[in-house]
Amino acid sequence: LPDVWSPKPLRGKKILLTAGATFEAIDPVRGITNISSGQMGMALARACRAAGAEVTLIYGQIQTALPPGLVHTEQAVSAEAMYRAVHRHIAAQDVFIAVAAVADYKVKNSSSRKLKKDGTGQPPQIELAENPDILASVAALPQPPFCVGFAAESDNVLEYARAKRLKKNIPMLVANQVSLAMGKPTNQITIIDAQQETAFPESSKPQAAAQIVARLAELLGA
Ligand code: CTP
Ligand code: CA
Repeated sequence: LPDVWSPKPLRGKKILLTAGATFEAIDPVRGITNISSGQMGMALARACRAAGAEVTLIYGQIQTALPPGLVHTEQAVSAEAMYRAVHRHIAAQDVFIAVAAVADYKVKNSSSRKLKKDGTGQPPQIELAENPDILASVAALPQPPFCVGFAAESDNVLEYARAKRLKKNIPMLVANQVSLAMGKPTNQITIIDAQQETAFPESSKPQAAAQIVARLAELLGA
């Protein structure tokens, strides 16, 4: 699959992506995050741009460089900050691709001061509250962009992924096994949409991104 597309199948399309891990503060120095590195999101942002799209990227914590040539990039570290950033930019978009590993819960009783051990040996209680589902909220807009989700699962990958696509009411979802994808430079994806399910062999994340762009372009053209 191409690195340089000719003709460019996403020419002129406005695409917003989320990428990386969110971080939910416990106190000013501690928090809850996950093992997403941002590599898949960056590879996909780069591939969308290479295919001619105007790319906006909202990212959390990443362990990789931002690709060049994007229209707008913005860091939004907590799930709520990412939700707000996405909704500030979503109206103009043709496509939304949710690659970020978003925390499902935030810390309800986060502290503005660093927590101290109180000397009793009793651990502090961390209370959680549910975060908004960014992808589901975008898919539920009155005139949603074409939405692409990801599902990283440890088990029952395809079964959970199919259900996730239907539950979030999105046309396209990329499924993968956590252990073959998250934090790694490679991935093994299955693209699930209303017409077909395509399982690809293990590849680099840039190659996986090109496979996703190719199917996205087909579905947008159809
Ligand atoms: N997602 C999102 N906002 C959230 C949670 C998830 O935008 N608060 C997006 C992710 O970016 C991904 C898709 O939804 O594209 C699926 O995320 P996942 O965590 O696999 O699904 P959940 O619906 O959170 O279900 P669960 O974690 O229980 O499997
Ligand atoms: Ca989740």
